[in-house]
Amino acid sequence: MAAPLKRHVALVGFMGAGKTTAARSLGLPVRETDADVPIELFAESEAAFRAREAEVVEAVLGEAPAILDLGGGAVTTPRVGELLREHATVVWLDADADTCWERVRGSDRPLAQDEAEFRRLYADRRPVYERAADVVARDVHDVALAAAGIHVEPGALQRLGELVPGVGTVELVSDPNVAGIHGMDAQLALGERVRAMHELPAGEEAKTLVALDRLWQALRLDRGGTLVALGGGCTTDAAGFAASAYLRGIDWVPVPTSLVAQVDAAIGGKTGVDLPQGKNLVGAFHWPAATIVDANVLQTLPEQQRREGMAEVVKTGLLAGEPLWELPDGELVRRCAAFKAAICLRDPHDHDERKQLNLGHTFAHALEAAAQYRDVTHGQAVALGLQAALRLSGRDTSAVDELLKPRPVHVDRERAWEAMRRDKKNVDGELRLVLLDDDGPRWDVPVPEADVRAALDALIAG
Ligand SMILES: NC(=O)c1ccc[n+]([C@@H]2O[C@H](COP(=O)([O-])OP(=O)(O)OC[C@H]3O[C@@H](n4cnc5c(N)ncnc54)[C@H](O)[C@@H]3O)[C@@H](O)[C@H]2O)c1
Repeated sequence: MAAPLKRHVALVGFMGAGKTTAARSLGLPVRETDADVPIELFAESEAAFRAREAEVVEAVLGEAPAILDLGGGAVTTPRVGELLREHATVVWLDADADTCWERVRGSDRPLAQDEAEFRRLYADRRPVYERAADVVARDVHDVALAAAGIHVEPGALQRLGELVPGVGTVELVSDPNVAGIHGMDAQLALGERVRAMHELPAGEEAKTLVALDRLWQALRLDRGGTLVALGGGCTTDAAGFAASAYLRGIDWVPVPTSLVAQVDAAIGGKTGVDLPQGKNLVGAFHWPAATIVDANVLQTLPEQQRREGMAEVVKTGLLAGEPLWELPDGELVRRCAAFKAAICLRDPHDHDERKQLNLGHTFAHALEAAAQYRDVTHGQAVALGLQAALRLSGRDTSAVDELLKPRPVHVDRERAWEAMRRDKKNVDGELRLVLLDDDGPRWDVPVPEADVRAALDALIAG
């Protein structure tokens, strides 16, 4: 299985930019290089301090990938710059001079004693950070995205050629709808690197072994090639799985175009296809080489598909404890993708906290199964499932009611209940759900059968 943090993520930036807070907030292994370089050395000789700092950075880069919290001046040493270029993704946490000064004034940092001197140094350092940076981050959310290899930028589709990592050949896969609208832009942006364009059927039909068999037989990539998946969650799920198995695994880059895919499906490395027996029954964890998210492409998304995505946005906002659904598209996508990315980086294989992303989904799957995946869309089912999960958590459902307007569905009650009891998260016949407490989500919570049954019944009409 591919490990998500494949490279070190080196946080650089001026003192007071918030590197340490950002590094720690991700909940990933952090190495604070300053801790191993005695500050007293600086007073004796800056050159000796920088030399020691470079040794520490070199040693740390030889260890398992981590978030590296580097001293503000580390990248001024050419050797450190070279080492980082080779072994790390360098993320510049860019904060303005006023913010930095407010945070460090009055501290014992040797370079933060005099404000004028501090501001002069700030101005000198900016170009150094700019040159060293692979990614510029404004806040902790950008840092999470960078650590996960996710690039969120309006207009990114036009820059695919620069943003798809590597120099090898690319083959593009899309569905007929998306290819017709955005395929040409993607091909133009990829330029000479793109050798072929493939189509998967639109919708869930892409996620079949028949469709994948056709795709596998058409691919000509060698092991250095990259499969770029341009489309909604069906395209990215299917193409990601195709990449995970083709030549025993090649690089892939999702370029999600639906709201569902930008905030959910293309984030976190889960890929897969359906079997007649059920959805997503064959798949793999295959973390992308990069994920490129351009919220501008949502302008062509049909309204019905947007509503599908809003159900996942509301779920994410409830889990994050913030009304992320109120944000404009670009920011909404950035925040939702960052929230999921951080969780998936900490728990890539769904053993623990990643389970919270199933909030409302056990009910949703039961309703969809009872409707035999007709008549009830996933988004409608998730909206109802969120209602049930919130009611069982003793919480207000008004955000879900107002934004998603769920209506009880006409499905067979017994069939829905049977599907609920078969859910793979149940243990020894006991139902386990994700609930939302005042201080956040809890998962694997055993809930009495009668309560679950009553909550499910309330979602069913007639
Ligand atoms: N891997 C995961 O972690 C994960 C998470 C959530 C959902 N999923 C999967 O995602 C799938 C659903 O994704 P989806 O809702 O994106 O479905 P989809 O890929 O079928 O896209 C929905 C429709 O919108 C069209 N479309 C997409 N982008 C467009 C655009 N910019 N302009 C115009 N039309 C556009 C598509 O052609 C399609 O007809 C499901 O199969 C689900 O299982 C996976």
